[in-house]
Amino acid sequence: MASEPRFSVRFNENDQVVSLAGVMRPETPAGLDPVVAALNDAAARVRGRLYVNLKRLEHMSFAAHRVFAAALEAALEAHPDLSLTLVTSSVMPWATRRYAPLAARRPRLSVEQYDRAFYPGQGVIESDGLLPVLRAQTSVIWKHERALLTRHGLKPGATIADVCCGIGDFAMLVWRNFAPRRIVAVDHYRPFLEYARTVARDFGGEAIEYQAGDAAALLLADDSFDFVTSRLALQIFDRPADILAELKRVCRPGGRVYVTNEMMGHIYAYPKDEPVTWAYRLIPRMAAGLGMDVNFGPKARAYLEDTGLVDIKVDLLEVNNLNSDLRDFAAVAAGWRDYVVGEVAAATGQTPEVTARLRSALEDFLYIVENRRGFATWPIYVASGQKPV
Ligand SMILES: C[S@@+](CC[C@H](N)C(=O)[O-])C[C@H]1O[C@@H](n2cnc3c(N)ncnc32)[C@H](O)[C@@H]1O
Repeated sequence: MASEPRFSVRFNENDQVVSLAGVMRPETPAGLDPVVAALNDAAARVRGRLYVNLKRLEHMSFAAHRVFAAALEAALEAHPDLSLTLVTSSVMPWATRRYAPLAARRPRLSVEQYDRAFYPGQGVIESDGLLPVLRAQTSVIWKHERALLTRHGLKPGATIADVCCGIGDFAMLVWRNFAPRRIVAVDHYRPFLEYARTVARDFGGEAIEYQAGDAAALLLADDSFDFVTSRLALQIFDRPADILAELKRVCRPGGRVYVTNEMMGHIYAYPKDEPVTWAYRLIPRMAAGLGMDVNFGPKARAYLEDTGLVDIKVDLLEVNNLNSDLRDFAAVAAGWRDYVVGEVAAATGQTPEVTARLRSALEDFLYIVENRRGFATWPIYVASGQKPV
């Protein structure tokens, strides 16, 4: 008996997109007939350019690839005015590589790795330099966030997806403290996932499912999680609404989507408030040049509502040097100094003078964090909403 197809094909005529998803490994070439038929139908109906979206195609066998490539070529032959763009993502590097030779032969066919444009800060975020920063941040935030997670609806035994999970430390803490029935943690940067898997192996969290994926096209089923988290992440994308739509899609009706985001422009320290305030006004402008909004925190409420979530809750999680572990907060401040001066300033083309002034201001911030009479505060907004039943 033929096995069930594990892929789907959909044509959206308004957007002129054929979308493939799942695993394309048919037992015979005929198994690909629905894909070829959808492609031919779409090619006959669109004007100009047809997009073929491969962002959620997890795997395509070589045999399937041959049939599909032949169908693409046939569509171009049959429609001399048609152009084809295959849209891949860096999560599927094989797709980009596999269709490059075809694109080189066929001028009307192009391959576009969409997340290059969508995620302009990628080079700065997907960097090993961020690893110590993420580790220190989670340590200092967890003490406050644990109770907020309960307030925002996380219960023991839930099914959880943590999207943009970074180095997986949050997933590990949730695993230990909330004993979820299932937890899947997704990130785009494989070295972070490797680190996460090693930590999970060493600390008994092997059941955490770490997955390479793209937050804007998750390889997770609709309506499948009780609680979907994405922490300090909407703020790094220039189209956060697209990510929220995906978080909502994988959340079950009645479940909750939970996000945290910074308001860096309100980081404050006293004394030395002048240089520190100058630096934390400049950093959001630098980040904006990389397509990020590190002042996204207070905007989350409106975004959650616009995504169609209800029962919105928002809390201010304030890390300061009186309510937090001083060593952890100092590690965060030192991590920011090194990362902002070393990577963000270079990526945004700051002059040596501005970079030196930034270094000095971020040193001041670290000094205040550690200073017994000083006060330093870092605001993070925690927001969640329920997917309507
Ligand atoms: C600022 S970090 C936050 C990480 C983690 N949530 C935390 O709080 O420590 C943002 C994370 O988003 C990941 N990321 C960026 N683009 C992504 C995408 N398109 N899909 C999934 N993860 C992505 C980065 O690799 C990085 O780990």
